[in-house]
Amino acid sequence: MTEELFYEYILAGWLVTAGAVFILLLFVKAPYGRHFSNRWGPTIDNRLGWLLMEAVSVLVFTVCFFTGPNSGIVFTIFFLTWQVHYIHRAFIYPFSLKNNYLRMPLAVTGMGIIFNTVNSYLNGRYLFNFSTVYDIDWLSEPRFIIGLSLFGAGFAINRLADSALVKLRNGDNTGYHIPRGGLFSLVSCPNYLGEIIIWTGWAVATWSLPGLAFAVWTAANLAPRAIAHHRWYRKTFPEYPLERKALIPYIW
Ligand SMILES: NC(=O)c1ccc[n+]([C@@H]2O[C@H](COP(=O)([O-])OP(=O)(O)OC[C@H]3O[C@@H](n4cnc5c(N)ncnc54)[C@H](OP(=O)(O)O)[C@@H]3O)[C@@H](O)[C@H]2O)c1
Repeated sequence: MTEELFYEYILAGWLVTAGAVFILLLFVKAPYGRHFSNRWGPTIDNRLGWLLMEAVSVLVFTVCFFTGPNSGIVFTIFFLTWQVHYIHRAFIYPFSLKNNYLRMPLAVTGMGIIFNTVNSYLNGRYLFNFSTVYDIDWLSEPRFIIGLSLFGAGFAINRLADSALVKLRNGDNTGYHIPRGGLFSLVSCPNYLGEIIIWTGWAVATWSLPGLAFAVWTAANLAPRAIAHHRWYRKTFPEYPLERKALIPYIW
């Protein structure tokens, strides 16, 4: 079998799996953070778990970048855009967390590693090996400009929300609290909203099936988790703002 054919099978399977994962996650909460459960077997330090899962994306994408035949300014921009996100997520974000007592099931780390390996391979190999459209003209292509702008906006929303959550635990202020201000006045999970915007922007900027698959997977992962967080907030805090939605301002 050629690599192209192998790639197409994986990509098709990947898109179908995203739908299945979405349905599954409506019934099963991914067991980390506030939804941690020790029924999922052996555990690992939470920060190490995050680092291992996300470092895979840095590594696989870098290998694809340096081994693929495609090169030029547009490819370099895609490479740097991806790495800005993933270097932060793998090597900075875990060490900013204020939950150093926390564990994560090894099963979650393992699934994260598998997801990030396949996803980075599909995106990296397509861009740097199989794609044929990203010449210098792509720089002035509206899809590229709109997509990168969405990516930047999503990144800012995600980072601001994550750091606001982390700051809720400064000093002796441990446990969970109602986040307030900014997009938290509209939705329970602006960090997830930002993440979905990031990878939607990526899908638009690359205008590619693997980019679309990543955006679909992100929504499939995070929309059910936003519902679970939202319900948890409402159950845990009787004074939780009634007008706040789960993920999409004013709508849902
Ligand atoms: N692309 C994808 O498919 C994907 C999948 C998963 C996650 N992510 C991204 O990874 C990042 C982390 O995800 P996550 O699921 O861990 O997010 P999260 O549940 O919102 O938690 C983020 C951090 O804030 C803390 N925290 C959350 N709410 C809090 C509150 N009300 N009071 C005090 N502390 C609070 C959490 O502590 P605890 O850990 O102790 O709960 C955790 O350290 C997000 O940016 C998310 O978008 C992306």
